[in-house]
Amino acid sequence: MVRLASTPADFAFCADVCNAVHPDNPVTGEMFAARTTGRFVVHDAGGYAIVDRSSIPGTAFAMVRVHPDARRRGIGSALLEAASSEARELELGRMYGRVAGGDGESLAYVERRGFGETGRDLTVVLDARVGVGEVAEGIVELGDEHLRGAYDVAAECLPEMALPQVAAAPPYEEWLERENDASAVAFVALDGDEVVGYARLCTFSDKRLENGLTAVRRSHRRRGLATALKRAQIAWAAEHGYTEILTSTVAGNEAMRGVNERLGYRPISEEIVVEGPVP
Ligand SMILES: CC(C)(COP(=O)(O)OP(=O)(O)OC[C@H]1O[C@@H](n2cnc3c(N)ncnc32)[C@H](O)[C@@H]1OP(=O)(O)O)[C@@H](O)C(=O)NCCC(=O)NCCS
Repeated sequence: MVRLASTPADFAFCADVCNAVHPDNPVTGEMFAARTTGRFVVHDAGGYAIVDRSSIPGTAFAMVRVHPDARRRGIGSALLEAASSEARELELGRMYGRVAGGDGESLAYVERRGFGETGRDLTVVLDARVGVGEVAEGIVELGDEHLRGAYDVAAECLPEMALPQVAAAPPYEEWLERENDASAVAFVALDGDEVVGYARLCTFSDKRLENGLTAVRRSHRRRGLATALKRAQIAWAAEHGYTEILTSTVAGNEAMRGVNERLGYRPISEEIVVEGPVP
């Protein structure tokens, strides 16, 4: 049966499926249940889908995951149908999602349903050790007085984040709600009183954090600010007992990849980004 996930057992079930498909990035039911945006659809025979409004205008983010032991029984198609009706309810005409890099079978499946590859997402991880990071001068923990400035930075930078897809910032209140979802801490870079850089860190598990948006105003790039923001995050992570920081970046985002490479993030997986009209 296909239905919306609502109980702790439903979210634990989704996490089990996710972990069977992606053993590299273990998740828990609590993590899924804690999400404040998006909906999980469950198929009791071994799969789930998550559907959410994405930062790409007119486009839903949708992921369908079927346990490897339960494939070729129509579960994925039933979930894709359910995900499509969720997207239509959100009045979105397109959907995008990700397929594991080596999973040719799943790629062929979505291609047969009108989706095409738009790019690659690279997931990299950094060991957060005490003494590696620091909070340099000009970098401070985000306070309420910085929120509007951080939003302006995000609104300027978001279009470049998911290239070749062009993202856009939602209205301020919605942005704030999404930024606070699973947030651990955020830092801003200041030029005088003006916020010119912004970087959010989210909780992934009790040992692992995940980078949220990292953004620096165009006028202030190539001055080491993104690196300084991320070094502040590394210091914070190590101080708070976390050992790893994970992040995913589209292959086309050379700037972010360059920053991460220099900081010592190492690749763990590659996913294919697929997009198409809601079937
Ligand atoms: C990614 C981003 C945050 C980098 O900010 P930044 O402050 O300019 O980065 P830094 O100055 O700390 O860069 C440090 C190093 O990273 C690499 N790097 C940075 N920008 C690069 C670019 N455009 N191309 C290639 N390498 C780049 C370089 O090695 C650079 O050192 P160098 O300038 O001495 O050569 C900024 O380009 C941005 O806001 N982009 C839009 C938002 C976005 O896509 N965020 C990432 C997704 S969350």
